[in-house]
This record gives sequence, C-alpha cells and structure tokens, in this order.
Amino acid sequence: MGGQDFSCQECHVAYKHKISGSSTTSAVSEGSVSCTDCHDEKPHSDEHPLLKKLNDHCDSIACQTCHIPTFAKAKPTLMFWDWSKAGKTMKVSQDDPYCITTHHKKKGLLIKRQNIRPDYAWYNGKHRQYLTGDSVNLDGVTYLNSPVGNISDPEAKITPYKLFSGIQPADAKYEYLIIPKLWGGYWKHFDWDRAARDGMKAAGLKYSGKIKFVNTKMYWRINHEVVPKEHALSCTNCHSYDGVMDFEALGYKDDPAIVGCRFKEQTDHK
Ligand code: HEC
Ligand code: HEC
Ligand code: HEC
Ligand code: HEC
Repeated sequence: MGGQDFSCQECHVAYKHKISGSSTTSAVSEGSVSCTDCHDEKPHSDEHPLLKKLNDHCDSIACQTCHIPTFAKAKPTLMFWDWSKAGKTMKVSQDDPYCITTHHKKKGLLIKRQNIRPDYAWYNGKHRQYLTGDSVNLDGVTYLNSPVGNISDPEAKITPYKLFSGIQPADAKYEYLIIPKLWGGYWKHFDWDRAARDGMKAAGLKYSGKIKFVNTKMYWRINHEVVPKEHALSCTNCHSYDGVMDFEALGYKDDPAIVGCRFKEQTDHK
C-alpha cells in the first residue's frame, strides 16, 4: 500500500525474528497476514446501495481481486522461463518495453512483462503442492501448486494470481521432474544428461537417461500493490461484455448479475 507509506512490518508483524505471512510457493509460514487484520470483513459503507453491494461480494471475492486490478505496475516481472533453450547462444530481438525477452546461456529464454491483469481462481486457503517424485503430464501442462477450492466451496473466494509458465526437464520414462545439478554442474559443463544424473543421484531418485522438456505452471498469489480506492475494480469492470473476469471458467453459467449468485439464497431478486 505504497500510498499509505507502509513499511513491510506494518502488515508482516515480526516477533523474535519470526515474520508473519504465509507463502504460495513454499511451505514457509510463521503466521498469516490478511487485509482483515486491519479492515472489516465488510468494509464498505452499508448506507449507499452500491457500496452495500460491494460488501455482499466479499463472501465470494477476495479484497485483493478488486483492490489489485493489475500487478508489476512499476517494474516488469518474470512470467515465462524456458530451460530447454539453455546451453546455446541465441539472439533475441527486444522492441517492446512491456514484454522483455532475454536469453542467457545458463538459464535459457526468459520473458518479463509489466502491468499485468491477474488470473483469477477459487481459493479456500490451501494449495496443492508438487513434491519430489510426483508424476508429471508429459504432453500437457503440470500445475505445480494449484489453489484448492471451487464455486461450490463456501470457504473459497475468487483470488488473483500471477500464473507463471515454465518449460523444464522431466524424466521421459519415470515421468517426474528432474532435479538437475546446476551449480558446479550444468552451469559449468552445459550437459543436461550429466547434470540430471548427478542431481537425481543426490535427490535419491532413479534417472532413465531420457530427458523430455515439459510445460509447468506455478501460481503466485497477488497481495501487494493495492491501488487508491478510485482505481479499484467496480461494477462494470466485471459485469460487462469485455469484463476482466471469465465467469464461465469460474463455474458460472453466465454473468452472475444475470443468473444470480453461486448460493441462490444470497441472490437478491429485488
Ligand atoms: C498492506 C499490507 C502489506 C504490506 C505493507 C506488505 N505486505 Fe507482504 N503480504 C501481505 C499479505 C496479505 C500477504 C499474504 C500472506 C498470507 O497469506 O499469510 C503477503 C505476502 C508476502 C510474501 C509471500 C509471497 C508468496 O506468496 O510467496 C512476501 C515474501 C512478502 N509479502 C513480502 C513483503 C515485503 C518485502 C514487503 C515490504 C516491501 C511487504 N510484503 C509489505 C501484505 C502486505
Ligand atoms: C467487488 C469488488 C470489491 C471487493 C471484493 C472489495 N472492495 Fe473495497 N472497494 C471497492 C471499490 C470499487 C471501492 C471504492 C468505493 C468508493 O467509490 O468509495 C472500495 C473501497 C474500499 C475502501 C475505502 C473505503 C472508504 O470509505 O474510503 C477500503 C478501505 C476497502 N475498499 C477495503 C476492502 C477490503 C479490506 C476488502 C475485503 C474484505 C474489500 N475492500 C473488498 C471494491 C471492492
Ligand atoms: C496493518 C494494517 C493494514 C493492513 C494489513 C491492510 N490495510 Fe488497508 N489500510 C490501512 C490503513 C491504516 C489505511 C488508511 C486509513 C483508511 O483508509 O482506513 C488503509 C487504507 C486502505 C484503502 C483505502 C485507500 C484509499 O485510496 O483511500 C484500501 C482500498 C485498502 N486499505 C485495502 C487493503 C487491502 C486490499 C489489504 C490487503 C492486501 C489491506 N488494505 C491491508 C491499514 C491496513
Ligand atoms: C471483481 C468482479 C466484480 C465486481 C467489481 C462486481 N461484481 Fe457483482 N458479482 C461478481 C461475482 C463473481 C458475483 C457472484 C458472487 C457469488 O456467487 O456469490 C457477482 C454477483 C453480482 C450480482 C448477483 C447477485 C445478487 O446479489 O443479486 C449482482 C446484481 C451484482 N454482482 C452487481 C454488482 C454491482 C452493482 C457491482 C458494483 C457495486 C458489482 N457487482 C461489482 C463479480 C463482480
């Protein structure tokens, strides 16, 4: 909340070197931080009918969804990482300042983008987590940490995410991700087979000698970059033909302003 000149610790309260706040991408948690640590669950005025309507939405939509309409506003963020392009020298043309493509021999092809509309997903406070040795989808996409929740889960709310795409090595026979030895390994000799053999040995997993690069996606929950209230998403940002939300992908038959809320008893037909 840059406009309020907050320090990190204003929200991430720290005690004896423990910093509150849980992560989407690692299992680290030393207590949670939430908007409602300071704000009400229904923070908008109940007197004005439109503001009251916003409060009705709070049972199904996270605060961050409306109050963080885009992320990476000031600096580009990494959105795509293709490891299969590592190990060679490549030239990439770069003419779009909002979509920066770079290539590094050690890392492969990287794409950073700026000012991005989040992806939206139902989230009930839990995420799945890909663990070492779990199977991957060799031909499709493997989701490494999907949020848990769906339209019929009363605990779940529509939550904004950065959806990060990767292309990374997997074992084509055993069908799991490879943990390559990078430091003192691939980054020295640029030999995937050797890096996989050494890395998998250290991880205690079998390696068949056959590598396939597979597509993965990772969810990063968006919690920062709250905008001034005038720039929050409002009625027509969502309820219109070119609205920011794909209601059908979220499980609605159509725009809920037409077909009603997910739990019928909440729909007010007046
Ligand atoms: C206005 C409140 C607020 C401020 C200020 C704030 N954060 Fe956060 N941050 C959050 C919330 C809410 C979460 C989600 C934590 C949770 O679910 O327990 C979060 C999550 C995080 C995460 C975990 C991200 C992930 O998903 O892995 C990190 C790291 C983080 N914050 C760092 C910072 C840093 C560094 C600063 C200062 C530059 C900062 N935060 C300032 C509210 C804030
Ligand atoms: C459906 C979208 C939506 C959701 C969900 C939502 N807000 Fe808002 N919020 C808005 C809009 C739009 C405004 C600006 C209203 C106005 O014009 O005064 C606003 C205004 C605010 C304000 C300023 C109020 C004032 O009187 O100055 C605060 C604080 C706030 N919201 C916090 C939250 C918190 C905390 C949550 C989650 C519990 C939340 N909002 C959920 C859309 C939303
Ligand atoms: C550490 C306490 C704290 C946390 C956590 C916190 N806020 Fe705030 N927030 C404040 C204070 C204080 C203000 C300024 C006074 C006010 O408007 O209530 C404020 C103001 C706001 C405003 C009004 C901004 C404007 O333009 O006037 C919005 C919107 C808002 N917060 C949303 C959020 C959202 C969304 C989160 C979670 C990501 C969050 N806040 C987390 C304390 C907090
Ligand atoms: C961030 C996107 C978003 C914004 C902003 C938003 N809505 Fe909604 N709206 C939804 C979703 C999602 C639902 C379904 C909620 C549910 O299933 O509980 C909904 C449900 C509704 C419904 C049907 C349920 C009912 O209460 O009868 C109406 C009407 C509605 N919204 C009007 C509004 C109005 C008016 C505003 C502005 C004050 C607004 N919406 C702002 C996403 C949004």
